[in-house]
Amino acid sequence: MRIGVLCSGGDSPGMNAAIRGAVLRGVDVHGFEMVGFVDGWRGFHEGDTVELDRPAVRGISPLGGVFLGTSRVPPFDSRSGEPVDFDAFRARMHSFGIDGFILIGGNGTQTVGSILAEQGIGVVGLPKTIDNDLDGTDYTFGFDTAVSIAAEAIDRLRTTGDSHRRCMVLEVMGRDVGWIALHAGMAGGAQAMLLPEFPESIEQVCEWVTSVRDRGRSSLIVVAEGFKPAGEDQAVTREGLDGFGRPRLGGVAEVLAPLIEQRTGIETRATVLGHLQRGGSPTAFDRVLATRTGIAGADAVLRGEWGTMAGLRGDRIEMVPLSEAVGRLKRVPAERYTEVRLNFG
Ligand code: F6P
Repeated sequence: MRIGVLCSGGDSPGMNAAIRGAVLRGVDVHGFEMVGFVDGWRGFHEGDTVELDRPAVRGISPLGGVFLGTSRVPPFDSRSGEPVDFDAFRARMHSFGIDGFILIGGNGTQTVGSILAEQGIGVVGLPKTIDNDLDGTDYTFGFDTAVSIAAEAIDRLRTTGDSHRRCMVLEVMGRDVGWIALHAGMAGGAQAMLLPEFPESIEQVCEWVTSVRDRGRSSLIVVAEGFKPAGEDQAVTREGLDGFGRPRLGGVAEVLAPLIEQRTGIETRATVLGHLQRGGSPTAFDRVLATRTGIAGADAVLRGEWGTMAGLRGDRIEMVPLSEAVGRLKRVPAERYTEVRLNFG
C-alpha cells in the first residue's frame, strides 16, 4: 500500500504532529509506503513530493506550521465549467503509485475529499482548522492553540486598557463561526463577544461598553472577523480574494472602534490579532489530538475505511463518513451564546 499525504487550506497548529502520527503508524506499524505532496495540490500537479518515513518526521510534533507546506491550489481545474476528468486524476495518482490519500484540511478540503470518495477514490480525512467549524468532530486540531494565543492577547490588552480606562476591541479569526471568539472571550472574561452567528446592533454594543464604564471598569470586546453588525449583510473585507476565491476578511475591529468611541465618548482602540493565532508551537492538547487523529487515519486506511474522517467524539477518535462531516458548518449554538450574553456589559 502506498499513500499520498497532502495538506490543503490555511495552516493550523498540529499539522506536523498529525503527519508524524500517520507516518509512525502507517510506515512503521502497518508497513505502508507514504509520500507527501509539497504545498498541497500544487505538489500533486507538479510532481513535487517527499518520501515520508520515520526519519522524515523526527521531532516535528512541537513545531508550528507544516513542513510539507499547504496551499489553496485546487485539485482540479473547474474554471472551464467542463466536468472534472476523474480518469485523468486517477492516472495522475497512478503515476505516483499511490492507492489513496490522507487529506489534512478543513471544510473545503474535506468537501473535496468527499467528492473524490464518491468517485471511488481512496480518501481518509484528518480535520484541522483553527476555526473549529467542521462538523463530525468535537474539536479540530489548531483550535486550542489559537484560543490560548487569543486568551493571552486579551490578558495583555486588559492591563493596558485598564491603565488608560480605554475600551479595547480585539479581532480574532473566525470566518463563518465564532468559536475562537467565544472560547477566548470566556477564558479572558471579555465584556462582550461578537460572533458571526449572532448579529448585534452598534447601539447594543455601546450600551454594554457604557454599562461597564458605569461599574467603574474598562471594556474588553472580542469580535470574530466574520461578525456583521445587525442590519449589515456583508462582513468587513480586505482587498483581494483568497486562494479559494473567497473575499479576504479582516478589519471589523477597526470599523467598530471609532463608532464605539464616537457614540460613548470612551477612548477605544482596536487590535487585529491576525496570523499570530495560527503561528507557533501547538499546545499539548493539539499535539495529542493531532497525533491520535493521524494514528486513527492510518488505521482506517489499513481497514479500507475510505471516505471517512477521523473525528473526536468525546474522548474517542471515530471514523465519520466524509459525506456526514461536510456540507454544513458547525456553528456556535444559540444556547452557548445566550449563556454568556446574559453577562455582557
Ligand atoms: O480558515 C481558517 C482561517 O483562519 C479563517 O478564519 C481566516 O479567514 C482565514 O483562515 C485566513 O487565512 P489566510 O490569511 O491564509 O487567507
